[in-house]
Amino acid sequence: MTKQYFEGIEKIQFEGPQSKNALAFKYYDENRVINGTTMKEHLRYAVCYWHTFRGTGGDPFGPGTQVREWLSNEDAMTQAYETMDAAFEFFSKLGVPFWTFHDRDIAPEGSTVEESENNLKDIVAYAKKKQKETGLKLLWGTANLFSNPRFMNGGGTNPDFDVFCYAAAQIKNAIDATNELGGENYVLWGGREGYDILFNTDMKRELTHFADLLKLALAYAKEIGFTGQFLIEPKPMEPSTHQYDFDTATVLAFLREHGLENDIKINMEPNHATLASHTAAHELQVAADAGVLGSVDANRGSAQNGWDTDQFPTNIYDAIELMLVILNDGGFDKGGLNFDAKARRASTDLADIFYGHIGGMDTFARALIIAYEMIKGGELTQLVKERYSSYDSGKGAEFEAGKLSLSDLRDIAASSAEPAQTSGKREYIEILFNDYLK
Ligand code: XUL
Ligand code: CO
Repeated sequence: MTKQYFEGIEKIQFEGPQSKNALAFKYYDENRVINGTTMKEHLRYAVCYWHTFRGTGGDPFGPGTQVREWLSNEDAMTQAYETMDAAFEFFSKLGVPFWTFHDRDIAPEGSTVEESENNLKDIVAYAKKKQKETGLKLLWGTANLFSNPRFMNGGGTNPDFDVFCYAAAQIKNAIDATNELGGENYVLWGGREGYDILFNTDMKRELTHFADLLKLALAYAKEIGFTGQFLIEPKPMEPSTHQYDFDTATVLAFLREHGLENDIKINMEPNHATLASHTAAHELQVAADAGVLGSVDANRGSAQNGWDTDQFPTNIYDAIELMLVILNDGGFDKGGLNFDAKARRASTDLADIFYGHIGGMDTFARALIIAYEMIKGGELTQLVKERYSSYDSGKGAEFEAGKLSLSDLRDIAASSAEPAQTSGKREYIEILFNDYLK
């Protein structure tokens, strides 16, 4: 019998909004059907391996505080197997359908490329067995190209070709691992893909190398029959001073420049959006408008500080904004809501990681219910429709159909009276929004 790491915590049940049990769901009822689809399928929740099973609460000012039994064995491979046991116990008790990982979260790096590959293969075989036993699925895998000191100047954008090849090797192996585990996506977060100072940097060359690496990765995926969706996760800074994948619009320009816009979508993370001075909903809408809304790393930042605090997403207002964009985009295809979030450094109980995830899952479940009510209510859609209605007929429609010249537009202005003012109605909209928060 596999060792149990979360003794005393049973499978989390749905108890409904009246429940006062913090180890129960108040809104997330996985079988509840909203607009023909279950909550489970709408939300496609995933738990991330790095924060929840490898993180112990360390920050730049001090070491970890969270003592985890599964990290106690000094033999790195034994520790990796034990961590996998703890992770799958947690996933099953929480009742999420998916998980996510970096190569180095699940298997230790060896002293050669080959040894690292073998470690990863062994652990992936174990994870595959665990997936089969529990029915868990892999939302996405990725490669950690930022922790090892060799990547101090980047992975796929490294000025040194030998380091670049190490990055390529890790990406190849992480795609293999993701494919072996039936992953629905493969993510690229460019931790150190950026630069420190322009005077030692050939930005154009670095970005071309990165695009070429992506093309090789796509070709390799095709070669091995991996059908998952490739995703880039934008972030403007931290740890690099200036990261190339700054925000969704920047990534889109990069993808289009290199002809990759049909092959790679966006994995949007709210705390990264706010670091780029955007709201998360803005980032998601930019992706949706371009047809590249892929997946979401569900978390939140802190309004008071300027770094990536990776807090659990419990702000209902923000979650509704995201669910509106996701529902209006037709829902997730291969993506989902991955909790790239961690318990605070002083949250040292094992139950705290359950509370964090339950809180996030209930927040988005509630947001799904409310966002769907808003869409059904139709006021927002109607407001937008009316706001642009002058383009629906007459000269406005002719303009949209490309039938008018700049001179034609001038003549229309010259022959019309001063346009009547039309209110943007922001305050009314904010009341309307709050009226749905029931
Ligand atoms: C870092 C971050 C990463 C990616 C995966 O800010 O979000 O954990 O999600 O590499
Ligand atoms: Co993330």
